[in-house]
Amino acid sequence: MMKEEIKVFCPATIANISCGFDVLGVALDSVGDEMVVRKVPSKGVHITKLTGQDLPTETHLNVAGVAALSLLAECDYDGGFEIEIFKKIKAGSGIGSSAASSTGAVWGMNALMGNPFSKLELVKFAMEGERLASGVAHADNVAPALFGGFTLVRSYDPLDIVPINSPPELFATVIHPQIEVKTSDSRKILKTTLSLADGIKQWGNVGGLIAGLYTEDYALIGRSLVDHIVEPIRSILIPGFDKVKSSALEAGALGCGISGSGPSIFSFSRGSETARKVADAMKDVYQKIGIDYDVHVSKINTLGIREI
Ligand code: HSE
Repeated sequence: MMKEEIKVFCPATIANISCGFDVLGVALDSVGDEMVVRKVPSKGVHITKLTGQDLPTETHLNVAGVAALSLLAECDYDGGFEIEIFKKIKAGSGIGSSAASSTGAVWGMNALMGNPFSKLELVKFAMEGERLASGVAHADNVAPALFGGFTLVRSYDPLDIVPINSPPELFATVIHPQIEVKTSDSRKILKTTLSLADGIKQWGNVGGLIAGLYTEDYALIGRSLVDHIVEPIRSILIPGFDKVKSSALEAGALGCGISGSGPSIFSFSRGSETARKVADAMKDVYQKIGIDYDVHVSKINTLGIREI
């Protein structure tokens, strides 16, 4: 018998992963939102509860609502859905808050209807939530949230998502200095052209990172976590960025960069013990400069969004 209601864990995600602006992302395990999606006889989508963040509950103004409506428009389902959102991820923190809500809605609805849509189709619907949040329908947060692990957006047109191997000893540390940076704002400051010299460096690192993830070559992963294009511009918006990065690397991180559009900063480490040392080193910087923070140490979530 088909369920009437489902509760889901919607993971936080790190997009870009230094060298892969708008194409690379990875799902986290220790932080994410929870949502309840429920079938109702009346048509349409209603957000009936939203806790943890001050966000709109009008369907067309809420990322989950917009993603849900785009799915509903593509099927002849007779009834409608109610959505409850329990936000644990802060909006504007740079770890895929809008992606978590958007994917939770479409994944939950799909499950309740007997999975008529593929994961790739769900990515397309969830991208509509991203369009509302940032002005651009980027897929580098929603893809890892839905597929789990690391994902590559090989192409946007046509949409082509490639799941990438996750080395088992890889751990992420994410620190969120308590300021809000809107993705739409941090996209506006980026240049729209790049030099061939920067391109050569950047795609060398993207290839190196993918090769390192597949061969589980942690040193190669570390060498490839370099961003010549976006980080030099966006890091200006993040207080203490250079110091946090150098402290993370000194503490043993393989690499460190901006998580998504920031202000969160992520590091990858080999093993949870190093990841925790890196967390202490990153915290220390914000304690010294007097900025509040949240910190997460997480293994890679290879399953992605799941029922709880
Ligand atoms: N690729 C997007 C950006 C991710 O950097 O703007 C936002 O989470």
